Amino acid sequence: MIFTRGTTEAINLVAYSFGQRFREGDEIVISTIEHHSNIVPWQMLCERTGAVLRVIPVNDDGDLDLDAYAALLSPRTKLVSIVHVSNALGTVNPVREMIRMAHDVGARVLVDAAQSVQHLPIDVREMDCDFLAFSGHKLYGPTGIGVLYGKRELLESMPPWQGGGDMILSVTFEKTTWNALPYKFEAGTPNIAGAIGLGAAIGYYQSLDLAAVIMREVTGLSIVGNAKVKASVASFTLCAIHPHDIGTILDRHGIAIRAGHHCAQPTMKRFNVPATARASFALYNTVADVDALLDGIDRVLEVFA
Ligand SMILES: Cc1ncc(COP(=O)(O)O)c(C=O)c1O
Repeated sequence: MIFTRGTTEAINLVAYSFGQRFREGDEIVISTIEHHSNIVPWQMLCERTGAVLRVIPVNDDGDLDLDAYAALLSPRTKLVSIVHVSNALGTVNPVREMIRMAHDVGARVLVDAAQSVQHLPIDVREMDCDFLAFSGHKLYGPTGIGVLYGKRELLESMPPWQGGGDMILSVTFEKTTWNALPYKFEAGTPNIAGAIGLGAAIGYYQSLDLAAVIMREVTGLSIVGNAKVKASVASFTLCAIHPHDIGTILDRHGIAIRAGHHCAQPTMKRFNVPATARASFALYNTVADVDALLDGIDRVLEVFA
């Protein structure tokens, strides 16, 4: 486990360090429903090396097309980097099966767990992912701290990505040698307060049971993303009301949702919407919160009647 600033930095670490072995024509497979942080570092790597980005399509429900995924995989595939739970749609991807398929062609797999650590139990050994990244603040911890998990032999074989204190064993002007894991990838004074805060957040999280939430039907409300397996994220549109207007009116009633493209512009384009409103249920939400949201949506409809 390597401490990073968050999921974004963890993915960039892999793109920089593991990316050193990429050559022209190598392929990286991602999906249509990735967060920008799991798109842009790979585009930058492709620019540097001549590698090629391949994208798994998604169907109208928000499920990845696994037949298309199988067809994309080949001995040219060096890495598959996929989101576990989509922040924009709530889709829970079948990562265990996708990892097995990637391993069959000799590819490594990175799992973006930014939205799954707080919703699903994660066992990296059982999942058999090669890398997994998450952010502390998505798990009710502090910002500026996150984790990259990597298989030991893989991390051993990768060069450091930032130089400085702590990541070295010895320094001379002639030659510098690297420290052991995880320090090799943790140059400079670490975010000590953040790591302690993250530990406390994980302790809190592990002391709780997760509850299920059921929504009643609202006329004019259309859920974007109806994947077979979903996390507690409801991305929606409401009649032709702009999501930012929905967000503003709900905010006046004390309800915080997120409105916008959710750092997933390719996903919005795929579903022909400029943005969605997104209610994201956390383990501290109560049934009263859900009722308040539904009442708030009624207020929005009244304003725009
Ligand atoms: C699925 C997903 N991946 C990656 C990220 C990036 O996380 P961070 O900004 O903490 O690095 C987010 C943040 O919203 C996310 O939802």
